Amino acid sequence: MSDLINSLDKVNELVESVKEDIVKWRRYLHQHPELSFQEEQTSQFIYDTLESFGGLELSRPTKTSVVAKLKGSRKGRTLAIRADMDALPIKEENQFDFVSKNDGVMHACGHDGHTSILLGTAKILSQLKEEVPGDIHFIFQHAEELSPGGAEEMVQAGVMDGVDQVIGLHLWAPIEIGKIEVVSGPMMASPDEFHITIKGKGGHAAQPHFTIDSIAIGAQVVTNLQHIVSRNIDPLDPLVLSVTQFIAGTAHNVIPGSVYLNGTVRSFKPELREEVPALMERIVKGVTEAHGASYEFSYQKGYRPVINDKEVTTKLREAFVETFGEEAIKDGVPTMGGEDFSGFQQKAPGSFFMVGAGNEEKGIVYPHHHPRFTIDEESLPIGVKAFVQAVFKLNAE
Ligand code: NI
Repeated sequence: MSDLINSLDKVNELVESVKEDIVKWRRYLHQHPELSFQEEQTSQFIYDTLESFGGLELSRPTKTSVVAKLKGSRKGRTLAIRADMDALPIKEENQFDFVSKNDGVMHACGHDGHTSILLGTAKILSQLKEEVPGDIHFIFQHAEELSPGGAEEMVQAGVMDGVDQVIGLHLWAPIEIGKIEVVSGPMMASPDEFHITIKGKGGHAAQPHFTIDSIAIGAQVVTNLQHIVSRNIDPLDPLVLSVTQFIAGTAHNVIPGSVYLNGTVRSFKPELREEVPALMERIVKGVTEAHGASYEFSYQKGYRPVINDKEVTTKLREAFVETFGEEAIKDGVPTMGGEDFSGFQQKAPGSFFMVGAGNEEKGIVYPHHHPRFTIDEESLPIGVKAFVQAVFKLNAE
């Protein structure tokens, strides 16, 4: 029998013993949400809570992030476990008694749960120190929701130095409670952003021949940009190019002088990602010049794509099957969403997984970023158990 199985009963018992705490922490955090890069109270709460466990080496790599290091007594590798902590600019519409006290700010993505899960994991592992293989870095990351994200900043501050592997989770309401989803290989795309201004010549709508109609040209640009996806890129490489804003005009009888477009580009492959901006600019330049207009074009790279390491994911999956049973595990497929967990994956092989947090019977059905979003709190002990078991699986030599 493996160490993992030997310790399972003990882990179950320990998770049960912290259940009250993790629910309490999650509710406290839910009541006190803070926006990206402003997580001052949140990070202080995390720091103080970690300090109360004893035996952890604490640091503040950036203004609003926290790292705790635990040295296990047994030989092993070094694993980083990451949780994000920021909230969103959404006015909460939930009715329960721990709704947001910070008007217009809400934990509408479950990061309150991620933080309390990682606190619970740190508490248990500090108690299991004698049995823990290798070192663990508990990474409490700020600013996942707002580009450029907190992950890159923390990596630059050195939090991944000496780390062999990295894992993280997202509570996921579209997945029912009790299930865990793992994805091997590409999991989430790189969410890039572009801005285009088309400069024509405004004038009277009744005299279009005296104008350079920026709206008509802008519409051509939108249509032609889709040719990149359908005609220029290998159909077997996923690519999304969406124009999401088209701003122009003031009245029915005025042709506006300019149009502003913005939107997102998402892909998995680094080579493809490098290729897209030039293809886009070629179209914008060609279409605007063809009609006598000019343009401004800018492209900003967002997070890197989340590409899960096959070996780490296989081991994680094994740990989850041994802990929760084969029927609890879903093998997921990639989505075009983004996550800055990828920032940590540039430094060490890693895997990000989804923990089911939805429950139709309890009315927990609202999507992430919705004013009535919430999680089934039964997902919190599941997350803790998943992390603790992952440590024994991944860190053992
Ligand atoms: Ni999130």
